[in-house]
Amino acid sequence: MTGEARPPALHARLLSLPPIGRAFEASSEAAHATEFADRDIQAYEVYGFRPVETQRLFWYRWIAGHQISFVLWRAMCDVVSRHPDGVPAERELDVLAACVDGYSAMLLYSSTVPREHYHAYTRVRMALQHPSFSGTWAPDYRPIRRLFRGRFPWQSDPSCAGLGEAIARNGVTHDHIADHLVPDGRSLLQRSAGAPGVSVSREKEDLYDNFFLTVRRPISHAELVAQLDSRIADIAADLAHHGLYPAVDGHHHPVVTTGSGVMDPLVAGALRVLDRAARLVSQLRLEDVRP
Ligand code: HEM
Repeated sequence: MTGEARPPALHARLLSLPPIGRAFEASSEAAHATEFADRDIQAYEVYGFRPVETQRLFWYRWIAGHQISFVLWRAMCDVVSRHPDGVPAERELDVLAACVDGYSAMLLYSSTVPREHYHAYTRVRMALQHPSFSGTWAPDYRPIRRLFRGRFPWQSDPSCAGLGEAIARNGVTHDHIADHLVPDGRSLLQRSAGAPGVSVSREKEDLYDNFFLTVRRPISHAELVAQLDSRIADIAADLAHHGLYPAVDGHHHPVVTTGSGVMDPLVAGALRVLDRAARLVSQLRLEDVRP
């Protein structure tokens, strides 16, 4: 065999997160010593040409992109909960904005699934899990929903302008990928009998966690960082091998092309944006935070 790189494993893995409202466990100094790996950000092609195992690749991307988003949401929740009243410090606002952009990068990464494939497989599996399966059930999003809505009083402070811009970019990104994958604009929740706005039961949150291979158990902040780190290494290997938009059945399926506004930096820079967020999260010491 000459030069053809082996495809990455693409195994979705179980993610452990603390129960909502529960602080991180204390961790040993040894665990801190193994915090975030120093790595070069690998470049990747936007348009890939290598053969793709379609089912495996896009299932993997859907799960990994969501899991990384959950970790970023959890990190954001811990920063926000430190400041029930006042404005977070500049460094913390940077962490929040970087996490929001990292989440936007994961929206793009997850939604690189070709539309037909999304409707034939991904969406069918979510609808089988529950007919009104919805992002509104995401347990880790609940505590920071107010942040995404700009409802914390401190968010009007001028120092929060950068965070506000990241949140606006995130809104554009979510709307764009939703329109791209579901052009008729109706989510599973809206299609089913359940109307948006109904409160989310514990059972629905568990169904959501369960779908995305997420278990709740006490973990330390160092374990959170380690899980983020290993997932970034995995998606870096995926992107290096397949590109952001792989050719499926001879065609590329771009979600957004370069030169198209606020999502532009994410197309070639998804990994860099994510890595920056992860690096800032790893520098936080949150074991002492009580939500
Ligand atoms: C790529 C992965 C996705 C993630 C991580 C995600 C995440 C979320 C989250 C966290 C919410 C709750 C927002 C809130 O309560 O303020 C939400 C709501 C929503 N999402 Fe997504 N979303 C994704 C993909 C999609 C897609 C493909 C659609 C296409 C229809 C979509 C349509 C909606 C709609 C319409 C809502 C409003 C509530 C509802 O009707 O379910 N999302 N999403």
